Amino acid sequence: MKRLQGQTGGLCEYMPADVCDMESLRRAIVAIQWRFGNVMHIVHTAAVIEDAVVHNVTFSLLERVLKPKVMGSWNLHLLSEQLCPQLKSFVCLGSAACVPTLIKHTLHLT
Ligand SMILES: NC(=O)c1ccc[n+]([C@@H]2O[C@H](COP(=O)([O-])OP(=O)(O)OC[C@H]3O[C@@H](n4cnc5c(N)ncnc54)[C@H](OP(=O)(O)O)[C@@H]3O)[C@@H](O)[C@H]2O)c1
Repeated sequence: MKRLQGQTGGLCEYMPADVCDMESLRRAIVAIQWRFGNVMHIVHTAAVIEDAVVHNVTFSLLERVLKPKVMGSWNLHLLSEQLCPQLKSFVCLGSAACVPTLIKHTLHLT
């Protein structure tokens, strides 16, 4: 975080939260707004990678990979609607790697 702060000239802080857990996320957003003021931009980068070829994909593997992407972005959307009236951008990172690429990357979901 110190290196990032030095590179950006801004103020960087680490605040742990589970994007799949609404209350954990709410606490983090409230704490961020209390400390820094209104949240203007959100970049959702949470991801879990579980490499597997298609015939080895189980429901629990799929759930583990999908949860932070789908539930995480949905929770962020709902909470930002409630708590971040001045939000200007909401960016969700993903990957095209599951479509054209390496055989074991079928679970690298966008
Ligand atoms: N790296 C690449 O080459 C690449 C290419 C294309 C797209 N992307 C996309 O860019 C994004 C970031 O990639 P990355 O390489 O930085 O991934 P990464 O190094 O695997 O980091 C993913 C982060 O997500 C966090 N995370 C997982 N589940 C979470 C949850 N429920 N709540 C909060 N945080 C959670 C992990 O935290 P913990 O470590 O605490 O579990 C980890 O810090 C991803 O969306 C990925 O799909 C990456």
